[in-house]
Amino acid sequence: MDQTGQKRENWGSRIGFIMAAAGSAVGLGNIWRFPYLTGMNGGGAFILIYLFFVFVIGLSIMTAEFAVGRNSGKAAVGAYKSKNKNWTFAGVIGVLSGFLIMGFYPVVGGWAIAYIVKSLTGLTAAPEAIGDTFGAFITNPVEPLAWMALFLVLNVFIVAKGVAGGIEKAGKILMPTLLTILILIAIRGMTLEGAGAGLEFLFKPDFSKVTGATFLAALGQAFFSLSLGMGCMITYGSYLNKEENLPSNAFIVTAMDTGAALLAGLAIFPALFAFGIEPTSGPGLVFVVVPSIFAAMGGIGPVLSAFFFVALTVAALTSSVSLLEVVVAYLMDERNMARKKAVYISSTIMVIMCVLASLSLGAMSGVTFLGVGAFDFFDILTDKIFLAIGGLLLCVFTGWFVNKEDLRKELTNNGTVSFGLFEIWYNLVKYVIPVAIAIVAVAGIMSITQ
Ligand code: PHE
Repeated sequence: MDQTGQKRENWGSRIGFIMAAAGSAVGLGNIWRFPYLTGMNGGGAFILIYLFFVFVIGLSIMTAEFAVGRNSGKAAVGAYKSKNKNWTFAGVIGVLSGFLIMGFYPVVGGWAIAYIVKSLTGLTAAPEAIGDTFGAFITNPVEPLAWMALFLVLNVFIVAKGVAGGIEKAGKILMPTLLTILILIAIRGMTLEGAGAGLEFLFKPDFSKVTGATFLAALGQAFFSLSLGMGCMITYGSYLNKEENLPSNAFIVTAMDTGAALLAGLAIFPALFAFGIEPTSGPGLVFVVVPSIFAAMGGIGPVLSAFFFVALTVAALTSSVSLLEVVVAYLMDERNMARKKAVYISSTIMVIMCVLASLSLGAMSGVTFLGVGAFDFFDILTDKIFLAIGGLLLCVFTGWFVNKEDLRKELTNNGTVSFGLFEIWYNLVKYVIPVAIAIVAVAGIMSITQ
């Protein structure tokens, strides 16, 4: 029972939870963002740093978020508050991050939906022309807004229906579809002539281009991709059964997320090099490379391209519903709002932010906040600053303000399952990770502002 006297909703099954948490993690972060960041940060070296951060910092934080969430049985803010009132702000920062990410995420989600249709109606041209089409599309003042609105409406529909009913069903059916399509694209890409250079770019690290900014980009991407540092996994953990093994769930989700990102890399880079597209092209990468692969294929190519964007849309949806859920859970748990009302109020504000973000790429490109447009502003603010701060705060909170034995009990289900790495995990969370995040953040910001 929670404070409103209602029974807290629970995940229907273990596989349902993993699919939903992996659904939150696997999204535009893996398939849209990871490839273009890799391209802009020099390839293999960035990937190695990223993998290190994912498995040392990310996995530890995800384990901590699950533990704090299930232990308190509360969403982000409530979880902090129930243990220590002074920490309420850390939860609020998380909710705010979720809010800000929802200020640009649905814009890209809208692009994905648009490309389902565009794949079928005339992207059968050379890669350069496909690139021009993308540029014209995202800078159009009206069209992307309509797609973004459609994407948000889908979110509202799923989240308004509640935890087990909506999110879980969507994740269970649609995640496997996405992985299958990515594998098919990767195989196709790797068999194109000239694809070898792409594999080399991905797997032969060149450390000469690595700077403090590379480390910060890799760390931010690890948080963003794993849905960490903002209370999302705390909220999901709070819906988790007492019998579930938290460290193993965290590992499975992290491995699936990383697998999906690497698969996206394999789907994009071999083809990109085969077509002679620049790896540094930026946010348009997937929207240009994937249609190009399929256009070159002819025949049923356009249909397969449409399928890819259906899968991308779904991946984006299972992530964005988790972002919306963080905000909604806060309004329900802390403000005693009914679910539907919470969903409508928060999504209304998100629409406004998204309109600004979308227009900042075209009609309003002259309007800037601290030197960047609204889209980049929401993006940089969340992934380079808020999520890292959120992760750092969560570690300090878990390490210094939660009883160690409570954590041990939570992570071993009262001693009924073993977690041999407990001491290592605990020391990482308490000492190593907060210091590491602080160093990476400072070095990164210094190298960006130089
Ligand atoms: N992890 C999601 C993605 O990779 C984005 C996300 C970030 C979702 C933070 C929830 C919380 O697309």
